[in-house]
Amino acid sequence: MDNKISLFDLLKQAENAKVSVSDKAKLYSDVLVQKSITNRRPLAIQLELLPVCNFNCKVCYIRMTFDEVKQSGQRVLRFEDWKYYIDAAAELGVYSITFTGGECTIHPDFIQIYQYAYQKGIQVGMISNGSSITPEIMDLFENCPPTKVYITLYGMSNDTYERFCGVRAFDKVMRNIDALRSKKINVILNFTVGKENLSDLEKALRFARDNQIAIFPNNSLQVSRKFTTEALEREGADYYLYEKLEHEHLSKYYHMSFEEFENGFLGDVSIPYFDEQTKGLHCNAGRCMFTVNWKGEMQPCASIYWYTQNPHEVGGIEQAWENLVAWADEVPALEDCKTCIFQHKCRLCVALHYCDMGEYGKVSPRFCFKALHPKEAAKLQTEYDRGQVLKKTEESAQ
Ligand SMILES: C[S@@+](CC[C@H](N)C(=O)[O-])C[C@H]1O[C@@H](n2cnc3c(N)ncnc32)[C@H](O)[C@@H]1O
Ligand code: SF4
Ligand code: SF4
Repeated sequence: MDNKISLFDLLKQAENAKVSVSDKAKLYSDVLVQKSITNRRPLAIQLELLPVCNFNCKVCYIRMTFDEVKQSGQRVLRFEDWKYYIDAAAELGVYSITFTGGECTIHPDFIQIYQYAYQKGIQVGMISNGSSITPEIMDLFENCPPTKVYITLYGMSNDTYERFCGVRAFDKVMRNIDALRSKKINVILNFTVGKENLSDLEKALRFARDNQIAIFPNNSLQVSRKFTTEALEREGADYYLYEKLEHEHLSKYYHMSFEEFENGFLGDVSIPYFDEQTKGLHCNAGRCMFTVNWKGEMQPCASIYWYTQNPHEVGGIEQAWENLVAWADEVPALEDCKTCIFQHKCRLCVALHYCDMGEYGKVSPRFCFKALHPKEAAKLQTEYDRGQVLKKTEESAQ
């Protein structure tokens, strides 16, 4: 999006083109995100309330028990700790807070923390496994509605849940999704894909479509923190199998415009990554977004766990934010992708590639269209090159 165009102009264009209300909301959101990125102001943040969880997913990068937290010499931060971050976020003009974890709903002060953020006038949401939404939390959501509740689905039966998460929680999760939706809470589903639940994905998509719920499958497991390369090999879904499934069966479920459900969420604006950009993150991380991890350290996003700033050690949140921004602006870009025509076909998250390759700028074959489909890529490249030559000949003839 051209940042020089004002919101007024955009909306006028939208009005003339009779754009729907939801598309206009998306426009507002995109402009807000774009402006925040330009000015490097934090707009949306995540608070990782605790690393503890009532599930034990084999793919999880964070999960610990309360005992393990104690043994690590750390502690679970309480309301008074989180209040500091929420106050500072409000002062910085942060618009939206998403609680995550571990499982944020089992934090001993979850209700108090949530309520505090809500009363500050900040939009609140959460990412949850959906299994422990107590009647008290349901009441809280009724009185102080969250903007979004992301629930990660891990399968479509208790058996799959047991294999993937170590608990037979499917029925409970489904009941909670139902209860939330009956209270008109905006539920969005993630489906984190692994070897053990790939076969349930189609059923999950059908469920989401039939119930008009947005769903985002995620087959990009990150080798991160507690999730090792060996674990990825063991637990990850086969990429070819996933793509085959997507091609043959799943694509028919992707007819919905997810933005209709998004209500102008502050998502990533699709910023052209390439050509001149030699360095710097190209997503929201460290540009208009940050995460506070469960130890109280700030990171550019939940995935970039290796660059942290502790606001208590660097003179406050504003300073910690400035340090994150300076770091994010220096991260080398993915070299091979800069001039590649297949950018739209790949996962270009810097964190994913870095964690696989151990250095910046290098492309992980796991997420690279050219590496995964060399024959198809070569054919498409030849067609593209031929088209370019033709275009140039026509231009010079004019
Ligand atoms: C760590 S969980 C915390 C919130 C909540 N407990 C849940 O499961 O939704 C946040 C999201 O990260 C996903 N996740 C966990 N481990 C991952 C990994 N190694 N790579 C990518 N995503 C992962 C989860 O499936 C979930 O969608
Ligand atoms: S439910 Fe979320 S936090 Fe808990 S173990 Fe699974 S991925 Fe990790
Ligand atoms: S095909 Fe490979 S090199 Fe090209 S954009 Fe995708 S990841 Fe980068």
